[in-house]
Amino acid sequence: MSKQEAQEIERLRQKIRRHDTFYYIQNQPEISDREYDRLMQELKDLEVRHPEWVTPDSPTQRVGGKVADRFDTVAHKIPMLSLDNTYNVGELKEFRERVVKGLADVSPDEIEYFVELKFDGLAVTLTYEDGIFVKGATRGDGKKGEDITANLKTIHSIPLNICTEKEKIKLMEVRGEVFMPRKSFQKLNEIRAATGETLFANPRNAAAGSLRLLDPSITASRKLDIFVYGVGFMDPMPFSTQYEVQSELEKMGFHTNSNRYLCGNFEEVLPWIETWEKKKDKLEYDVDGLVIKVNSLDYQKKLGATSKFPRWSVAFKYEPEKEETRVENIICQVGRTGAITPVAILTPVTISGSTVSRATLHNEDEIASKDIRIGDRVVVEKAGEIIPRVVEVIKSVRERRGLRFRMPSKCPECKEPISRSKDEAVLRCTNSVCLAQLRERLLHFASRDAMDIDHLGPAVIDQLVSKGGVKHFSDLYKLKLQDFVRLERLAEKSAQNLIGALEKSKSVGFARVLYAFGIRHVGQRAGMILARHFHSMNKLQKAEKEELEFVMEIGEAIAESVSTFFGQKSNQDEIARLAELGVEMEFKGEAIGDRLAGKQFVLTGSLKSFTRDEAKEKIAALGGRVMSTVSKKTDYVVVGADPGSKADKAKKLDIPLVTEDEFKKIVEK
Ligand code: IVH
Repeated sequence: MSKQEAQEIERLRQKIRRHDTFYYIQNQPEISDREYDRLMQELKDLEVRHPEWVTPDSPTQRVGGKVADRFDTVAHKIPMLSLDNTYNVGELKEFRERVVKGLADVSPDEIEYFVELKFDGLAVTLTYEDGIFVKGATRGDGKKGEDITANLKTIHSIPLNICTEKEKIKLMEVRGEVFMPRKSFQKLNEIRAATGETLFANPRNAAAGSLRLLDPSITASRKLDIFVYGVGFMDPMPFSTQYEVQSELEKMGFHTNSNRYLCGNFEEVLPWIETWEKKKDKLEYDVDGLVIKVNSLDYQKKLGATSKFPRWSVAFKYEPEKEETRVENIICQVGRTGAITPVAILTPVTISGSTVSRATLHNEDEIASKDIRIGDRVVVEKAGEIIPRVVEVIKSVRERRGLRFRMPSKCPECKEPISRSKDEAVLRCTNSVCLAQLRERLLHFASRDAMDIDHLGPAVIDQLVSKGGVKHFSDLYKLKLQDFVRLERLAEKSAQNLIGALEKSKSVGFARVLYAFGIRHVGQRAGMILARHFHSMNKLQKAEKEELEFVMEIGEAIAESVSTFFGQKSNQDEIARLAELGVEMEFKGEAIGDRLAGKQFVLTGSLKSFTRDEAKEKIAALGGRVMSTVSKKTDYVVVGADPGSKADKAKKLDIPLVTEDEFKKIVEK
């Protein structure tokens, strides 16, 4: 091959690696996805012409590994130990005592500690030879793990080739935790629910399951990430502290977590425990505690390890808040798509500052495996923003118990038979005119991000459905003032407001209408993309599945459900009725999606009215982007309560700080 082509290959690889770092590690892309794909394609083309030049660290080698029939076993050069757990400050102080004793010739005040987050994922080890990623493995039993190199390569935040300013490192083994961000976990489960696959119980299980797939191309689709926190082995070993280990790993291009603290002495460790107890729930990934490490690597060596744990480190674990209460009833809810979910109705208790009176029981299997019955005393747990769940039944008070719970065979609402189709684990009411489903669909249709019909809440919808004869979205627009006045507990003034809100909703725009229909997989963003691409309902309705798939960001699942939706005669009729009644279904550019185009946001501190994910979704739906770190390119920094250092950085860089109220005004109309 010509020298020029060789240089071109190397130039492209370097460029792609740089953009991988911007995108996956710094969360600050500098080029569009399209440009990135173009670079990748150019590289692939060149490598196809010169297969002899393909190297294992080429960015093209992340995906495409072969399907394996099993994983090989790998012996760890240095055992992968686990950590001793502590649950209170008393136990943590005992750890300090042991450290002080073990370092008898060092003054206790001179012992520095390093505090890190304890990520709730899966420990892995990554081996680099001459700077190139050659092997990755699970922890296994600590001595031997499984070779999951091909799967780990699909994680873009794992560098395939490290840059080091220090002298060339011949052999290096770094350790970290692979995890699935909460949002990706939610999305994955939503898709699995829609396709009838069993759900993962939590992000850790989802990460573990994804890493142990024999087909790396499926792992690649799972959006895993890693935080690297330490070194197992390094030759030569150029670092002297844990602080240095992390900063240098970061410089080499590894994804490290920025929430880490060097403490001059043990007393400085304690405040971090309190700080992170609340703060951890606001993160985008699960953290179940802190890890406290003796900072000096020399001292670590002196302290050594027991057969299971290092003596220089300990975990401080936060236990999710739990309370005892009683199951008063078990009801079955019917969702918008007919899916039937059992829910425990509980004697209200306060957990983590909020009143809990319901807990989802997920499905029949969950109830059966925990054997939850009406009347049982149970332990309920609530961790952060996660929906409360029943942990276990308190067995000691099981004298006379209620009957074993059985899922109904008929829809609790319309009494039509429930079905469990072959490829779906979920029970569904398949009656397309089931009132419970209708109520949920109408609630979604009227919600703030959809048609935004003010005052049309559950109480009004219930009555409209049960006695108002509302069967379709379009029926709402046929209602007259008298129809509303007739409803219970609705004053004439409110009825007038409702009429006004309905009228106003007709012009919310095409994108919102699409979202309001509640088509499976079509969220706000997909609604916007479809509206912008097709411009009118007419054109969208005519689009074939293949044409839909061609649209950027519209995947096969969305294309499939959109084309099924528009293929149904009942939906076509409903669209015609809505159009007749004056609901606008043309894209006018003013629809959601444009207002924040190109704007970069950074969020810091906690917001009262939104979760992080909600705030992000709102920004994304308006075309903006959310970044994790403040830079010169940031347009706004949204500051909630108890903001972090991002606010200070923004001030330094003169980037406007936006309060929660101002943010609300920006995103809500
Ligand atoms: S250091 C020998 N640091 O916790 C000490 N571990 O319970 C090795 N973990 O197997 C662990 N975050 O999977 C360390 N910042 C962190 C961690 C961390 C999560 C996990 C790791 C380990 C387990 C021990």
